[in-house]
Amino acid sequence: MPEIKPIKITVFASGRGSNFKAILDNIKNKILAGQIVCVISNRQSSGTLETAREEKIPAFHITDRQFATAEEYEDSLLKILKDHKTELVVLAGYMKLVPACIIRAFKNRILNIHPALLPSFGGQGMYGHHVHEAVLKYGCKISGATVHLIDEEYDTGPPVIQVCVPVLEDDTPDSLAERVLKIEHKIYSQAIQLFAENRVVIEGRQVKIQKKK
Ligand code: GRF
Repeated sequence: MPEIKPIKITVFASGRGSNFKAILDNIKNKILAGQIVCVISNRQSSGTLETAREEKIPAFHITDRQFATAEEYEDSLLKILKDHKTELVVLAGYMKLVPACIIRAFKNRILNIHPALLPSFGGQGMYGHHVHEAVLKYGCKISGATVHLIDEEYDTGPPVIQVCVPVLEDDTPDSLAERVLKIEHKIYSQAIQLFAENRVVIEGRQVKIQKKK
C-alpha cells in the first residue's frame, strides 16, 4: 500500500484537550497519518496549550482582545496557519466562532466535533454538560457524536462521520458524556485520516467518502 503523506494539522482548542491528546496518540501510534504543526487557544490556561508545549509543538494563546481591530486579529490567525503550512484545521473544544475569512481561506478544510447527533442538540450554548443534560431531559434513547465541516454558524456544517451511542436509563450527564467522549476520541482521528487519504468529496451538503484506492 502506498505510504500516506501526513496531513499538516492546526488544532484550535479552549479546554482540557482530551480530543487533542487522542489525536496526538493516534499519530504516535501510526493509526493516523498526521502532523500537528501548531496549536492555537483563546485560553491561556487551556490543557491543550500545556500538552502542546510538553510535546514541543508551537503553541499560541490568541484572543481578539489582544488586537485593536478584528482585521488585525484575523490576519494574525491566518498568518500563523499559513506560516505553519496548515492543510487541515481541527477544532477540538474551541469555544469561539472561527472568523469568516479563515473559513473562506480553508474552505471545506475545517473540522469540528460535537458530542451529539447534529442537527439535534447543537447551536450556541449547546456545549459540554448542557448537551448531555438536554439529551437526557428530552428522554432520547440514543445520542452520539458528530464530526462535521464548519460553516459560519455554530454546529450547522455538513457531517463527515456520525456514530450513535445508546442512552441508558440510569445515565447521568457525566456518564453519558464519558461514553460519548470515548467515541469522539476514535472518530475524530478517523475523519482526519479520510482527509489525509484524500477520500473526501463534498457535493452540496453531502460529504461523500470514496473507497480506498
Ligand atoms: C468535546 O466533547 C467536543 O465534542 C466538544 O468539546 C469537548 C472538548 O473536549 N466540541 P476536550 O477538550 O477535547 O476534552
